[in-house]
Amino acid sequence: MVRRQLAAALAAVALLSSAAQAEDAVKVGLILPMTGQQASTGKQIDAAVKLYQAVNGSTAAGKKIEVILKDDTGVADVAKRLAQELVVNDKVAFLAGFGLTPIALAVAPIATQAKVPEVVMAAGTSSITDASPFVVRTSFTLAQSAVPMAEWAVKNGINKVVTLVSDFGPGIDAEKSFTERFKSDGGTVIESLRVPLRSPDFSPVLQKAADAKPDAVFVFVPSGQGAQFVKQFVERGLDKSGIKLIATGDVTDDDQLNGMGDVVIGVINTHNYSAAHDSAANKAFVDAFKKANAGMRPNFMAVGGWDGMHLIYEALKMTGGATDGDTLLAAMKGMAWESPRGPISIDPQTRDIVQNIYVRKVEKKDGELYNVEFATIPNVKDPVKAAKK
Ligand code: PHB
Repeated sequence: MVRRQLAAALAAVALLSSAAQAEDAVKVGLILPMTGQQASTGKQIDAAVKLYQAVNGSTAAGKKIEVILKDDTGVADVAKRLAQELVVNDKVAFLAGFGLTPIALAVAPIATQAKVPEVVMAAGTSSITDASPFVVRTSFTLAQSAVPMAEWAVKNGINKVVTLVSDFGPGIDAEKSFTERFKSDGGTVIESLRVPLRSPDFSPVLQKAADAKPDAVFVFVPSGQGAQFVKQFVERGLDKSGIKLIATGDVTDDDQLNGMGDVVIGVINTHNYSAAHDSAANKAFVDAFKKANAGMRPNFMAVGGWDGMHLIYEALKMTGGATDGDTLLAAMKGMAWESPRGPISIDPQTRDIVQNIYVRKVEKKDGELYNVEFATIPNVKDPVKAAKK
């Protein structure tokens, strides 16, 4: 055979085998806000997913795991269209990501119809897991953090509170679950303030909060808005008013915390993840994440992405590579593992995450600001769903 013919034959074989490999690949449609107001969430999760594959390899159950990243720009209608395309054209076995509640909710009917698992790595409204039997969550719910914050506040002499939340699903959950527990433990909520999700101006509500003279303001704003909130808190003089700031850890987000300045030192907040969490698994995660991302510190969104990938890999291993939705869901239900945040599991009844919630205080360590955990509430199930039973 002449050399040219041989080369052509070899090229044809290579083409065929790569086609076979591609057919054998398991595709994960990763829908994230890579641009727009929520872009920091997209950046964190994308980095965590890439790191997971770099550390654990790009195959599971003998199949190549191919991640297809799509930018939803933070808009639900865009995410819905992308999810449809990923299911119909790319034949993805998983839909994953979801940086905002309205996006996770908009995609849920597609997951149901296509019988494709929807792995929610970021959004935190309790009802998301009710929107489809194919939703599984590796992030958190706002009620998980807000209830322990209310309990801590009453125990620590805070009796009168103004709540201030972002006016959409997770903010309303935070407001409601904080208020219910705070009242039943004997506290009084004197005012409930809400700010719009898009381009919020916190000044007017901060003025109202100051005028009400509470012992503390309880705050939820989504990841990415904490720094601006703190800036306006200081501009309005609340840091010097004697009114305490208590919050869900979304506000003192590791992604922005270090830039907030010493004014946040001492702020008490409750959450599922701190980059300062003291475990070998977390140290390895933080070190590898920083190394791969020019020093960027992972936040709770990154951990939701990391664990979402773990769930996908381990489910595939359990099914021996089978990708039908019902089999994958059965594998995911009840799965338990050690995350960088601590021990976690998927509640087999609700498909929601069960995890420790930590009470933390912002402190300076080695010249950097961290959420330092000082108390642990173990194995917290979503309180909203627990109350319904
Ligand atoms: C949500 O959209 O559910 C969400 C987004 C950011 C957060 C928390 C919840 O920090």
